[in-house]
Amino acid sequence: MQLVIDSANIEKIRKLNEYYPIDGVTTNPSIIVKEQKPFLPLLKEIRSVIGEEKELFVQALAEKAEDIVKEARYLRNTLSGNVVIKVPVTKEGIKAINQLKVEGIPTLATTVYTPMNAFLAAKAGADYVAPYVNRIDNLSGNGVNVVSEITQIFLRHNLSCKVLAASFKNVQQIHNVCLAGVHGVTTAPELIEEMIGHPSIEANVKQFKKEWLDLYGEESMNLISTK
Ligand code: E4P
Repeated sequence: MQLVIDSANIEKIRKLNEYYPIDGVTTNPSIIVKEQKPFLPLLKEIRSVIGEEKELFVQALAEKAEDIVKEARYLRNTLSGNVVIKVPVTKEGIKAINQLKVEGIPTLATTVYTPMNAFLAAKAGADYVAPYVNRIDNLSGNGVNVVSEITQIFLRHNLSCKVLAASFKNVQQIHNVCLAGVHGVTTAPELIEEMIGHPSIEANVKQFKKEWLDLYGEESMNLISTK
């Protein structure tokens, strides 16, 4: 199961990539705009932080299929390493995904709201679909159910497309899509940090240390140098 950072903030990406088992970085136009920097150097900097192997997801901006395809070729030629092109699941987007499949350019179908959006994208050759869990919830839908149904449809019909669930507002939503069998999640740095945000962990570590110190004393705290 993949864990992907949904951010273009260099410092946050650097820190998370150092501490956690991160598989890649997703961006979208809003996420890039938030950094207020020229976008190509920013994407290159993200690449240099995560290395060449991990996937960097970059969204096409064009609306017509042939222009999306041109942008995808440009991004893949300009950025090094493993670059996946995000394409919204519009009618033109589905056409572009199909064309990019023929050219061997990997895609993630984004702005997925229903299982049928996902089915069409997978049939067209998308490598990933990204259902928007929290945005679906905000429309009085059930984001976790949508993810669960997409996962079941792909499994039942042997579609090799992966479900990378996106748009989370809390760790419980992430937990629930994990249970639903999702292939990966992409989420904001703050939520990745909150995945280990349980007060008992710190309290337990403190108690272990206290009991150890009480018996062996301060000088024994370095296990390696203690005889
Ligand atoms: C990622 O691929 C999506 O663009 C992103 O997760 C959307 O998240 P939001 O609903 O929190 O903006």
